Amino acid sequence: MVSSASPSLEPFEAGHDTSSPNRNLAPLTAAVGPDGQLSVGGCRLHDLAERFGTPLYVLDEQTLRTSCRAYRAALASHYPGDSLALFASKAHSSLAMTALVASEGLGLDAVSAGELHTACDGGMDPSRIVLHGNNKSPEELLLALQCHATVILDNWFELGLLEELCNGHGLRARLLVRFTPGIECHTHHYIRTGHLDSKFGFDPDQLQELLSHLAGCNWADVAGLHAHIGSQIFELEPHRDLASVMADALALARRLGHSATDLNVGGGLGVRYVASDDPPGIDQWVRTVAQAVQEACEKRGLALPRLLCEPGRSLVATAGVTLYRVGSRKDIPSLRTYIAVDGGMSDNPRPITYQSLYTACLAGRPRAAAEETVTVAGKHCESGDVLLRDIALPSVRSGDLLVVFATGAYNDSMSSNYNRIPRPAAVIVGNGKADLVRERETSRDLLRFDRLPQHLQPVS
Ligand code: LLP
Repeated sequence: MVSSASPSLEPFEAGHDTSSPNRNLAPLTAAVGPDGQLSVGGCRLHDLAERFGTPLYVLDEQTLRTSCRAYRAALASHYPGDSLALFASKAHSSLAMTALVASEGLGLDAVSAGELHTACDGGMDPSRIVLHGNNKSPEELLLALQCHATVILDNWFELGLLEELCNGHGLRARLLVRFTPGIECHTHHYIRTGHLDSKFGFDPDQLQELLSHLAGCNWADVAGLHAHIGSQIFELEPHRDLASVMADALALARRLGHSATDLNVGGGLGVRYVASDDPPGIDQWVRTVAQAVQEACEKRGLALPRLLCEPGRSLVATAGVTLYRVGSRKDIPSLRTYIAVDGGMSDNPRPITYQSLYTACLAGRPRAAAEETVTVAGKHCESGDVLLRDIALPSVRSGDLLVVFATGAYNDSMSSNYNRIPRPAAVIVGNGKADLVRERETSRDLLRFDRLPQHLQPVS
């Protein structure tokens, strides 16, 4: 799809596959103009870099809306009961993103007071917000209770806190009970959560005792169950297995007298970061989950629950690209060439954390043939600060603009100020227009919370 603002643009084909947004490496509106320059959302990336500086996070509105609609359409066509897709805002939490997903009729999953405030201020209806976390603070719980968000009950300690808060403030809690389903899947072990040895949720063996206890709590409404098996998952089988484990738990909850109308199967659908990645599309994932839940409920004679899911990465990853300016270069004869960019592990910690792979091109010469193999390093004082290892590019010059694809999820949200490097600005683009959604930090901003005790003040 090409932005309607620039009919002369040609779609940019890197990893292009229009069957589903999470199968594209590039945003849906990525296109090359007559001048050979890459644009997204009808905006030349070169112009965005000039106007907003680099590094710059660029979000494509059309890709975001397309993926929200893909989830909604798939749920409506494959699941006969009620359903709701909740955006897992840990993937990218901002006022703009909240407002956009709310306008597309999605709900939101938050994991902290910060994400809750962002969701509420961004205009998300609190009845469509769920609060997660294995160690929520009393303040976070109270905030959720007072705005009538749903709390994903994670553990016994939290149960005690909630009871105290509800009784103390005359509140009722709408709860989904989270448990570990005991399902293994193939993803990086840091982002696997469904296996039994996980910090999240109740052990399945404790469900009977827990649900019996909750049946006697007049402050709690057990509205359903939650489980999440992990992230960046390409297999469909674990999601099918999850449906039957969850249906057993649903049957138990209803036997014990709970309304248990909601079944929240979490998120986890993977995306393409490099051409060899081959995740299912959004429609295929939803169809698998929806059919599995339906079959599992029919088999047990259960009325269909409302089906909730919590996609994060597959909603936002490929909508985002990051622009960097190339600076220095180091050629190590017959070993390696490093080119360094003006960001790195502080704006994208995924390569150093999970050994994640990415795809990149030069904004000014996106279609030029590869002439050299380079390793793209960041500017941080750490050898492991490498964004892309051994990638083929046209010969790279200082001042070139490097575009890294599929950086919309878990980049901005996991960014840091390591080495006191300010976080990048973020813009949203569409129809040839770019709007700032996050101001660039400045180095001076980073001193805002520092305090110098009297006895350490320099003597003048
Ligand atoms: N629901 C729950 C309870 C979750 O813990 C997560 C992700 C999601 C939904 C969304 O999963 P998704 O659809 O995005 O796979 N920082 C890591 C990913 C951590 C995922 C944490 N939980 C990364 O950069 O790959």
